[in-house]
Amino acid sequence: MSSLERVQRALEDAGQRHVLRFWPELSEQERDSFLQELKQLDVKGLKNHCEGAARAVAAPDPRRDPNIEPVPAEILGSVTRSSRETLTGWEREGLVQISEGRVGVLLLAGGQGTRLGVHYPKGMYDVGLPSGKTLYQIQAERIHRVQELADSQQSSKCSIPWYIMTSEFTLAPTEKFFKENDYFGLEQSNIVMFEQRMIPTVTFDGKVILQDKGKIAMAPDGNGGLYQALVDNKVLEDMKERGVEYLHVYCVDNILVKMADPVFIGFCLSKGADCGAKVVEKASPSESVGMVCRVGGICQVVEYSEIPPETAELRRPGGELVYSAGNICNHFFTRSFLQDVAQNFNSQLKQHVAIKKVPFVDSCGNQVKPTKPNGIKMEKFVFDVFPFSKNFVVLEVLREDEFSPLKNADRAAKDSPWTARKSLLAQHCRWASCAGAALLDQHGNMLPTTSSGSEAVGSPVQFEISPLISYFGEGLEQLLKGRKLKVPFILDSDRARELQAQEHISDDVSAV
Ligand code: UTP
Repeated sequence: MSSLERVQRALEDAGQRHVLRFWPELSEQERDSFLQELKQLDVKGLKNHCEGAARAVAAPDPRRDPNIEPVPAEILGSVTRSSRETLTGWEREGLVQISEGRVGVLLLAGGQGTRLGVHYPKGMYDVGLPSGKTLYQIQAERIHRVQELADSQQSSKCSIPWYIMTSEFTLAPTEKFFKENDYFGLEQSNIVMFEQRMIPTVTFDGKVILQDKGKIAMAPDGNGGLYQALVDNKVLEDMKERGVEYLHVYCVDNILVKMADPVFIGFCLSKGADCGAKVVEKASPSESVGMVCRVGGICQVVEYSEIPPETAELRRPGGELVYSAGNICNHFFTRSFLQDVAQNFNSQLKQHVAIKKVPFVDSCGNQVKPTKPNGIKMEKFVFDVFPFSKNFVVLEVLREDEFSPLKNADRAAKDSPWTARKSLLAQHCRWASCAGAALLDQHGNMLPTTSSGSEAVGSPVQFEISPLISYFGEGLEQLLKGRKLKVPFILDSDRARELQAQEHISDDVSAV
């Protein structure tokens, strides 16, 4: 039997005969590449995949077990409710681990960013900061700076490996972008890019979607595809060889992410945790964010839609929400926990349904860009390993300091380039103010520096601090105390040198 006949039969058995509908119209070359793609597909698993997707859409999961509880106090830490000494202790421990080369960061960057709607990886997006920096550059510079902080505490030279999970969509452009930007000054050998798996998208009645006459519409298998990708690409072996024991995993789109956050690492280690999550207080009971809680005694993330409104609205006597631990995709894992997941639990990860607009060819062979969702992507989620942890902990952090994701295009009221830009600049204004600087507009009028960045109106004050100068507000007093700075102003390495060189504090240091 020829390979074509074998594939044909397997597709028929899986109820997917239509996949070869346009075969007679394909050129020799198109046939070769399509056959190649089909041979790589797990055709045996295809039937289950398609039927499972259609079933999941037809009968969504029932609401969760009523046996739901908030995260217990003994595993919950908080940056606002901890003393300065405790926070400093966690931070010091985190920096020691970084300086000894035991910490890596892992970026989840395989998503297609369909809501943002650009044709390149989200990390390459410029949200419109005065510096024009992209998300990738900001993250690279934070790694740089936190390495320096660890070095200065321990008088050593360390590096934090940066693992970047990409997908078929994002790998090539991400590689090219890093190369063109000279890896943003980081050692190329410390940046490890790898690819997650792709799976077919499916119609609501369980049929594989064709993107072209000779191509299946594939999608990455969700950020929980990480655990399979770690195995496929021998990432855990790489971590072991480098001596990396702890991993900070985060999403590409959070402009405020604290890469390799020493406070979080120190907190998790102080609790002896194998797995940890950062959370922020939910903005309101109806905010559509996953929540970390306990169900039947097991910690996990529960989707907003799975919680009855009356439960979501419960409040403590002081008025705070009982269920307030909003998941922000900022996780701590030990290498041995990841090893355990890869060996024993990967196959148990739940499949979630994502309903999306998937471009397709109709039965006449015309390309269609749907205006309404038409397809199912089955996705695994990175947080679905929490129930396998033996010692899971949670750290509550401040939203205005650590969470502002870029999800939507600029017209959206929430999680847009504008809100991301505003959150970052608002944070930098707060840092400047704490360091003792005053910010002035072009007419010399004092500007407010207390905004949280979450307000829906008003343009942000154009004051930006390079992550190469400050990771989280540290080291600014010596540069900024008593200064009056006219915006727009970018505090980068050149500007910092100039400020340091000035003997006297001049009244107005002007713009960019
Ligand atoms: P989102 O769920 O926000 O998806 O991903 P997205 O692809 O960025 O955007 P939409 O939903 O298509 O608009 C959260 C994080 O998980 C990563 C993303 O890159 C982002 O950092 N992700 C998502 C992956 O790494 N792989 C995936 O398969 C999906």
